[in-house]
Amino acid sequence: MLSFPDSFRFGTATAATQIEGGCTTSDWYAFAQQPGRIKGGGRPDVACDGWRRWRDDLAIQKSLGLGAYRMSIEWARIEPRPNEIDQAALDEYRRMLGAMRDAGIEPMVTLHHFTLPKWLADRGGLLAEGFHTRLARFARVAAGALGDVCRFWITINEPNVLAAQAYLLGAWPPARQSPTEALRAHHRMLAAHVAAYRALKDVLGDDAQVGVAHHLRLAQPARPESSADRMMAHVFARVFNDSFALATCTGRMYGPLDALVTGPEGFRVAEARGTQDFFGINYYSRDVVRFSPGHAAELFAERSVPPGVEVSDLGWEVYPEGLGMIVRAWAQRSGVPVYITENGIADATDSRRGPFLVRHLAQLARAIADGVDVRGYFHWSLLDNFEWAEGYGPRFGLVEVDYATQDRRIRDSGHLYAKIARERVLP
Ligand code: GAL
Repeated sequence: MLSFPDSFRFGTATAATQIEGGCTTSDWYAFAQQPGRIKGGGRPDVACDGWRRWRDDLAIQKSLGLGAYRMSIEWARIEPRPNEIDQAALDEYRRMLGAMRDAGIEPMVTLHHFTLPKWLADRGGLLAEGFHTRLARFARVAAGALGDVCRFWITINEPNVLAAQAYLLGAWPPARQSPTEALRAHHRMLAAHVAAYRALKDVLGDDAQVGVAHHLRLAQPARPESSADRMMAHVFARVFNDSFALATCTGRMYGPLDALVTGPEGFRVAEARGTQDFFGINYYSRDVVRFSPGHAAELFAERSVPPGVEVSDLGWEVYPEGLGMIVRAWAQRSGVPVYITENGIADATDSRRGPFLVRHLAQLARAIADGVDVRGYFHWSLLDNFEWAEGYGPRFGLVEVDYATQDRRIRDSGHLYAKIARERVLP
């Protein structure tokens, strides 16, 4: 029987822009108003109306008996204009986190989950001079206001995904398609993470647990006999998957190239070593990679899904074994406790989410039985929500949201997850 220790935390994850609504001062708010940017013309203006309905959603989470919740605070809401802090917004987040704790739910707060205040984006966003100082200052403000009601912090969510979508693929703001800018943005986020990590520890001391939510995938060669495919899988994994995460573990990002790049105010990659108290993993899928001269911008790696495999509504392969492999590898590399900070599936009919959950949790239970220090799992997501450039089509929620009425309905997979969390064994 596969089981989980009493100390293991079962939770869910969300992000501010994807659920809150009512924030007009972010880069994503502005981006989504531009025609053609978001599938179906979806905009985060209202989303799940979570800013007004968070008490109801907290009650749902509590009724499911899930004892941990990862959320983000919206920088653009808290600092709508440079150096102008909206105390009322901070107070509301404080009430949210306090209510969570009263309900026996441990919060984990992300400072930067893809979105920026519009004024900062206008000054160059991630590439703006002083971006790292700005994030560190925001970290200080957040820690000062919320530090006594929150112990777990994430500085940045999925820096590799953000660098790629925003600066390489042109799909997210500022919609650039420049490999050099993507690399620079990635490096800037590392400097910003280090600055924010230090700021949080400085204000909150060692009791605060700070990490990054690393988006990690497996990259495997499409034709294992092809040395070009093997090489592409390796390069893709090294540059996209591993470089930021490795930097936080070893102080090396791109190997020998690190010495050539100096970041803002002389930041060196080596400073990133040991800047996480836990290792956060967002895991969704794997990539099967083949060498393709037509994919120069993506390092000549064409990614695909093997024929006949199970996929999500977004076409992502369901590959639970990858989670087991990644957890084991990174627990060892990082030397700190691991949390699965995201894992989930777009599945509108809810026919695949239950088995998906069980199979991914089974990988964790086995790793724990083998002595791997995995301490918690946050399912993405509690609610259906605004899925960035994909709009409102994909349904990731354990709870279904009817966007016309804002009614919530717990899906069968939600009840199944509640049962697993309660019994601590897998069916
Ligand atoms: C992650 C991201 C989340 C959510 C999820 C599902 O990359 O952190 O915000 O969108 O994917 O696609």
